[in-house]
Amino acid sequence: MVYERIIEKVGETPVIQINSNKLSNIDLFAKLEFYNPTGSVKDRASNYLINKLLEMNIINKDTTIIESSSGNFGISLSTYCKHYGLKFYCVIDPLISPINEMIIQSLCTAVIKVQEPDSSGGYLLKRIEKVKELVEKIPNSYWVNQYGNLYNAEAYFYTLGNEIVQEISDIDYLFMGVSSGGTITGVSRKIKEVNPSAKIIAVDIIGSVIFGGNPQKRHIPGIGSSMVPDILTHAVIDDVVMVDELTTINMCHYLLQEHSVFVGGSSGSVLGAVMKYFAGRNFEKKPKVVVVFPDRGDRYASTIYNEEWVHDLKKYFDRVQI
Ligand SMILES: Cc1ncc(COP(=O)(O)O)c(C=O)c1O
Repeated sequence: MVYERIIEKVGETPVIQINSNKLSNIDLFAKLEFYNPTGSVKDRASNYLINKLLEMNIINKDTTIIESSSGNFGISLSTYCKHYGLKFYCVIDPLISPINEMIIQSLCTAVIKVQEPDSSGGYLLKRIEKVKELVEKIPNSYWVNQYGNLYNAEAYFYTLGNEIVQEISDIDYLFMGVSSGGTITGVSRKIKEVNPSAKIIAVDIIGSVIFGGNPQKRHIPGIGSSMVPDILTHAVIDDVVMVDELTTINMCHYLLQEHSVFVGGSSGSVLGAVMKYFAGRNFEKKPKVVVVFPDRGDRYASTIYNEEWVHDLKKYFDRVQI
């Protein structure tokens, strides 16, 4: 098929089976979401949301879209807004990676970088404060609010969720990383609709507060949050597995070395969670386990795949544990 524009080619991402002697007690399938146009699962939300909001007349061609994101959603929304001719203001913070900032700066109408950390030491609350200020100030503006917008979850229900249940039958477990909560909310509802006995396992990173953990400095973007997303009240989650950052990094390297799969941090976290959850367990029939790998490793070249950075992070953890 010939597409007029690459950004129309959202979804229909490949599924691979991961065979490993470390996971010989399960059948593991991974949906590779980095095959989406801007390199992440977030294209599903951006494309769906913009179309839906235009169709419902909630926004029009003169609307200014506003969102807080230093990561994949910022890159994706800036690309889709530009395509639809919509103005996009992206609120970021100083922790943004240089490559993400470069991409977002080149595509956005305006980039606003908050400078002061909030009371938790992070920037999320300050970014949201800034978004609210902009919405007040700019007429005909719309805050996407990925943490609370039900269209965000709906996007994944109809796209990623649908694809997974069509491609893989009789799923026993689905493991998913959580940040805004949009992906797991939409996909969990679709999977439970088709296969009510499937177990949905949320994966979070130590230092994130989403599932009641203590706030702690985190170094890997894309997974975890310093606030509890409203949207998660609509998710169907059976269990939560917490993973630490060093496990996340090891799993990313393992996937690259042993399976030629070059993934971002949250994919490593999810694989770490699967290993932890099934370690030492025996089943009469191997359970069918599905994971989603949201993005590719390229954007983590200076962190997860940089020896010096990993070395410094290990030293940091040695220090804080004393
Ligand atoms: C790399 C990566 N993994 C996982 C997620 C989690 O998705 P969600 O925000 O829908 O919970 C995101 C979201 O930005 C992401 O960028």
